Amino acid sequence: SPWRATVLTLFPEMFPGPLGVSLAGRALASGVWELEARDIRASATDRHRSVDDTPAGGGPGMVLRADVLAAAIDAAEIGQDSSKERPRLLMSPRGRPLTQARVVELTQGPGPLIVCGRFEGIDQRVIDGRGLEEVSIGDYVLSGGEIAALALIDACVRLLPGVMGKEASGTEESFSDGLLEYPQYTRPQLFEGVPIPEILTSGDHAKVAAWRRAESEALTAARRPDLSAQIPVKAPNRAGRQK
Ligand code: ADE
Repeated sequence: SPWRATVLTLFPEMFPGPLGVSLAGRALASGVWELEARDIRASATDRHRSVDDTPAGGGPGMVLRADVLAAAIDAAEIGQDSSKERPRLLMSPRGRPLTQARVVELTQGPGPLIVCGRFEGIDQRVIDGRGLEEVSIGDYVLSGGEIAALALIDACVRLLPGVMGKEASGTEESFSDGLLEYPQYTRPQLFEGVPIPEILTSGDHAKVAAWRRAESEALTAARRPDLSAQIPVKAPNRAGRQK
């Protein structure tokens, strides 16, 4: 069966959203992957269909109820092949930062169940009791986990076989080698008085590769010293120092 993302949300109408167009949308339509958006509110039990309540101990906002969310998770997993346990993710700004390595791992399994947080948070007993892995997509706060879930799913889907086409197979891009992408150019040869760097039109493939590598390393050092620390160094330069 195809790779599948199951999303638990109070706003199922936000899916597939942008994942319904372009590469991901075409792959979704052709059955390369599946998207299941499930309404958490369908698991509410009281006559008002309430899903949230005031935080224990006081404070602002509302907290997603443990009983309702646990029921939604359990309902989503009914009939699931127990030999294919799926990662249970919770999108949250307090989660572990999402990495390309985790994205690759997620594409290698059956696909995750993703809980989208809303309100001020969700009851901690569901996080613990259902073993939710909290995942952040960056150090900023979205109004809910849905847009974060869309970003995570997009990052996964583009890596699935048959989605991207072999031209940009995802192996020669940022983070697969721990470096930021080198600059790209195309026609016209002269744009607003600025030519394409001469090396790129020289036809010397070895020189082009070396130039791109140097550009990637310089960009990574300038913008992302955290990534720079991980650049493998081939050999010491003549001064015996690392670049
Ligand atoms: N929900 C709200 N903000 C988020 C973030 N930065 N990452 C993941 N989920 C979120």
